[in-house]
Amino acid sequence: MTVSAELDTLFRPMTLGEIPVANRVVMAPLTRLRADQDGTPGEMVARYYAQRAGMGLIVSEGTFPTEASRGYLGQPGLVDATHQAAWAAVASAVHERGGQIVVQLMHAGRLTHPGINGGREVLAPSAIAAPGTARTEAGKERFPIPAALTTTEAAGVADQFVGAAQRAVAAGLDGVEIHAANGYLLHQFLAPNSNRRTDEYGGSPRNRIRLVEQVIDSVSDAIGPGRVGLRISPQHDVQGTLEADPADVMETYGTLVDYVSRRGLAYLSILHRDPGGSLVQDLRRRFAGSLIMNSGFASATTLADACTMLRDAGADAVAVGRAAIANPDLVERWRDGHPLNAADPQTFYVGGAEGYIDYPHR
Ligand SMILES: Cc1cc2nc3c(=O)[nH]c(=O)nc-3n(C[C@H](O)[C@H](O)[C@H](O)COP(=O)(O)O)c2cc1C
Repeated sequence: MTVSAELDTLFRPMTLGEIPVANRVVMAPLTRLRADQDGTPGEMVARYYAQRAGMGLIVSEGTFPTEASRGYLGQPGLVDATHQAAWAAVASAVHERGGQIVVQLMHAGRLTHPGINGGREVLAPSAIAAPGTARTEAGKERFPIPAALTTTEAAGVADQFVGAAQRAVAAGLDGVEIHAANGYLLHQFLAPNSNRRTDEYGGSPRNRIRLVEQVIDSVSDAIGPGRVGLRISPQHDVQGTLEADPADVMETYGTLVDYVSRRGLAYLSILHRDPGGSLVQDLRRRFAGSLIMNSGFASATTLADACTMLRDAGADAVAVGRAAIANPDLVERWRDGHPLNAADPQTFYVGGAEGYIDYPHR
């Protein structure tokens, strides 16, 4: 059988910064809400990730660096020694199967509620509530009006990411992905409609990217840039974070991507509905490092989509979400042309083993 050039590329090893990966299929970060009540990822979580170690790189679900930044009940954290020990078990389980795993560090910002983060204040760039509801201990509640971080508190956010990144490396994880996408805190700083600040963190694109740069800098200084990735989702317009002005988007993300390029991070991960379109292609041209792409939620990534992103859109690797949930052995299935299990969206966020660790291997 002749294998097409793109298929060949998809299954070829590469290195992302300091992280050697066996193929270019990246397990996308996927919130699954199976951690213990205190945010400890238990034995079942380790098993879930170990089952998926055949993917070149696993990016964990969004994980909170501090209690106040927690966005979901059932979400894992990386706040203390108990969390760290549990993540060490996850890392070993993945490494034993020959995989690599980084943890996605996610500060929820305004997308949480005192009924989720242990009664703590909800913090954001500006005192503007997100639309919609949070799922709290007491049921669905409207997102509260957050307190705007003071300038000193905003500067302190970088230290929170550093603490979690150091615990990640101490746990034996292969690195961290900084979550600046999908409407969470760092994206709230980037987007003009959620950031109305008048200090050095608000206003111009230059100011709105400042906190993301500071987080990148501090985390890179702490654990080395070759173990740090960044995820962005320009124009995702999700969870109330809107980026409506294309010129502003280009300037904001262009400046940020130039910075990431200079810092030499392990990778940049872009989620955008049109990877071949002018915005992503412009970012691709100005980014010197490894680029992971994902085309968003409209339809689940297929093998053909992955090949197109590699061949036509300049991706170095592809982040795969729903197909990776449903197919622990996705790489073998894609490589050998086997049919796929279908993902069951009813079990994405509900807790328990069903729809989590019971998708069949071939
Ligand atoms: C159940 C679920 C949970 C997700 N959780 C996260 C997350 O924690 N962090 C993140 O950056 N993206 C998250 N995403 C987005 C995925 O990483 C990915 O971009 C999206 O699923 C589209 O890729 P796909 O078509 O291959 O599924 C999530 C998506 C799904 C379906």
